[in-house]
Amino acid sequence: MIDTQLWDGEMTCVRHDERTGATFVIALHSTTLGPAAGGTRAMTYPSVDEAVADARRLAHAMSLKMAAADLPMGGGKSVIMLPEPRAKLDDGQWRDILSVHAHNLELLNGSYWTGPDVGTGSGDMDVLARVTRFAFGRSVTAGGPGSSAEATAQGVFSAIQASVREAGESGLDGLRVLVQGLGAVGSRVASLVAEAGARLLVTDVDEARCEPHVAAGARIVPADEVTRTECDVLAPCATGGVIDTDIAATLPVRVVAGAANNILTTDEAERVLHERGIIVAPDFIANGGGAIHLVGREVLGWSASDVLARTALIEKALDDVFASARDQRISPLRAAAARAVARMQP
Ligand code: NAI
Ligand code: PHE
Repeated sequence: MIDTQLWDGEMTCVRHDERTGATFVIALHSTTLGPAAGGTRAMTYPSVDEAVADARRLAHAMSLKMAAADLPMGGGKSVIMLPEPRAKLDDGQWRDILSVHAHNLELLNGSYWTGPDVGTGSGDMDVLARVTRFAFGRSVTAGGPGSSAEATAQGVFSAIQASVREAGESGLDGLRVLVQGLGAVGSRVASLVAEAGARLLVTDVDEARCEPHVAAGARIVPADEVTRTECDVLAPCATGGVIDTDIAATLPVRVVAGAANNILTTDEAERVLHERGIIVAPDFIANGGGAIHLVGREVLGWSASDVLARTALIEKALDDVFASARDQRISPLRAAAARAVARMQP
């Protein structure tokens, strides 16, 4: 039974497609600042309810992200609940799924725009864009701005720098930084922190992704030991939901700052971390570089260097959030959400 009570967003659309076996969920959290925008996540889920809950949580985070980055878009997200893991679908099945999704976007007629997210990439946006105008993040060869991973990683690096300063450090030199997930974003974050002098720890369920970093001097941490590993900075760059209330009570780190959306599972986890003096960079600010790249390049006509300059402002935005949290004696996450919500007023 889909819970219609516990969400403050505008609309959730759910469509099951018998032919492909995929279920499509598109959540429009807010269109106050502009059309709702957010990536398309394609993966398996245990139930439709969980797919809906994920789409709604992620759409909410997108509203905060757009407002925090001062972008003229609202927040939305689509989730494609796949009948089987993506790796088991053949190209034809995947193309059919994308074609239903393109039709969904056309039906929404611009109230919702999508881009890449977990399980989709620029090439998939190229396919969607053949049918609909409402997909951004096409590959460079297809005339788009290409992957947002570089900008996201730059923003996360800025967020890590601001957060370690808030933790009383002058810089990253000698600090232990654990990067979880060495995909498009995490591998770049790992390289940036290592270049800044951090002692790098890395983990990925796909161990081969750790190898280049280990060859450059990083230490591997087993994937299931991440939240028990002592370090100065934990940078979750795999999936969200890494820290629940129990983990928050024992997490042996000083700073949490990463790319994943919705790193904490509950408000209670956030309260516990705050009480323990652990600095948490709000993820909807830390990972805003991707949205800045996509919306900046596709909607606002920015150049790559405009995107870089705007992404660099993430460091200052976090300095301001940390200062306002200290003044008000609230957590940075609360301070950041209050600012974003204030910007979202009509
Ligand atoms: P990706 O799919 O390229 O990389 C994810 C990596 O995490 C993969 O190497 C995967 O093997 C690893 N992984 C998955 N589960 C893991 C686990 N339990 N433990 C350790 N490693 C695990 O994804 P990408 O693009 O690097 O994004 C990373 C995160 O950042 C995602 O949560 C995404 O939603 C978020 N994000 C990405 C943006 C972008 O521009 N790519 C923008 C904003 C947020
Ligand atoms: N999925 C990415 C994010 O969560 C990138 C993205 C941003 C996709 C904005 C669409 C719109 O930030």
